[in-house]
Amino acid sequence: MADAAPYVHHSSSVDDGAEIGRNTRIWHFCHVSGEAKIGRDCSLGQNVFVADHVVIGDGVKIQNNVSIYSGVELEDYVFCGPSCVFTNVKTPRSDFPRRDVYERTLVKRGATLGANTTIVCGVTIGQYSFIAAGSVLTRDAPDYALMVGVPARRVGWAGRHGYRLKDVGNGKWVCPETEWVYQASNDQMRCLSWPEEKPLVESGR
Ligand SMILES: CC(C)(COP(=O)(O)OP(=O)(O)OC[C@H]1O[C@@H](n2cnc3c(N)ncnc32)[C@H](O)[C@@H]1OP(=O)(O)O)[C@@H](O)C(=O)NCCC(=O)NCCS
Repeated sequence: MADAAPYVHHSSSVDDGAEIGRNTRIWHFCHVSGEAKIGRDCSLGQNVFVADHVVIGDGVKIQNNVSIYSGVELEDYVFCGPSCVFTNVKTPRSDFPRRDVYERTLVKRGATLGANTTIVCGVTIGQYSFIAAGSVLTRDAPDYALMVGVPARRVGWAGRHGYRLKDVGNGKWVCPETEWVYQASNDQMRCLSWPEEKPLVESGR
């Protein structure tokens, strides 16, 4: 991959002090606050806001109209669909500002948040989990979980490539597109076809 300084469209504003990694592209009408950290190879679509103290890993894609508020952390290769909504105060009242009590939301490596999802603050979204378009996530999502609906419930499992896994018995699940094999036990899923710690992007697969 080319190695270039970050690109910031002239309509966007990046406050002094913000850290932005190489190859990251920031498209139209974005605002990145001064105490935000954004990794390399990321893409921020139109009208994305990144608040102070937000940490965004490498290879993260954020589609149009997404605000990442203080308290949110996105690990490497997270995908945020268009207009997905984060929150950081569970019981907001204009009368009683709660600026000091932002709750943490952690989105782990490779997770996908579909278009228009709402993430109620204080949850952890497991690695490679998939939150379906329009869902409202109110609880933690396990690794590889396919979460759907309002409130979001686990309806199946999604593999690393994003496809719904097929149950082939004995706790084994297979991706119908790639034939990668996964193992379920105690309501947890792990990938047997590739070591957990190696991101697909770096391996070229
Ligand atoms: C979750 C998702 C991956 C499911 O895809 P799928 O496995 O092919 O599912 P299907 O289309 O076969 O649907 C299976 C069932 O789930 C329902 N369903 C699918 N997506 C749903 C969603 N987002 N919310 C609620 N129900 C959903 C379908 O209506 C169907 O229900 P039925 O069996 O009663 O008819 C997909 O629907 C989705 O939400 N993708 C995210 C798209 C997105 O946001 N992209 C952003 C970048 S553009």
